[in-house]
Amino acid sequence: MTDGWTATVLTLFPEMFPGSLGQSLAGRALAEETWRLDVQDIRTHAIGRRGRVDDEPFGGGPGMVMRPDIVDSALREAVNLVDDQRPIIYLTPRGCPLDQARVRGLADDPGVILLCGRYEGVDQRVLDAWKAEEISVGDYVLSGGEPAAVVLLDAVIRLLPGVMGTAESVLEESFERGLLEYPHYTRPADWVDWQGQEHRVPEILTSGHHGRIAEWRKTQAEQATRERRPDLWQQYAAREDEG
Ligand code: ADE
Repeated sequence: MTDGWTATVLTLFPEMFPGSLGQSLAGRALAEETWRLDVQDIRTHAIGRRGRVDDEPFGGGPGMVMRPDIVDSALREAVNLVDDQRPIIYLTPRGCPLDQARVRGLADDPGVILLCGRYEGVDQRVLDAWKAEEISVGDYVLSGGEPAAVVLLDAVIRLLPGVMGTAESVLEESFERGLLEYPHYTRPADWVDWQGQEHRVPEILTSGHHGRIAEWRKTQAEQATRERRPDLWQQYAAREDEG
């Protein structure tokens, strides 16, 4: 059914799209039809005169839950049951954390179907019935799945063939080698701040010794990872030990 990498987004706030995905790298790729965006308003599946899409949680508690019949109806319209190979992803802080490996996997898929929840979330039965993958973009709570969907799509789109200039810059960046990236510097080599304080770039970077520069950058990347991301550092160190 889909022609090129296609994102279908199911949302109660269709005006939030393309949002930032209409700008810069993703926006250019959208205009060039490297990827396609199909936004579906869940509210068109609402029932009754009042157009309800949610209800009170069984068992009590705060907030409202999106009804399974409404979400099911939206999914049935969005998904071609015969040949749609795209994963269905529900964005939720309860999900597995999104990482660069999953982002690469999604770039290799024919596209993605993203379900954005509001209120307290979506009735679990419809997620289970559709075997939706539950993904979180970080250990904090957003007001809904829409900004998380934008984050996920931004990360995937830049990896689609033809979107980024040089493949080399992808290989160098954070997470690709299990480390955070090294710090960057540009002209002027000697910068004076607002207090008159001088800041020179690390001398090694202007030395022209490519081997030594690569070594310095690796040390910087390792140091940042050790200090900021002990979880990543442990995995990296274990892999290095294995050889
Ligand atoms: N919806 C609300 N918070 C979220 C998060 N951290 N990740 C994904 N979806 C969300």
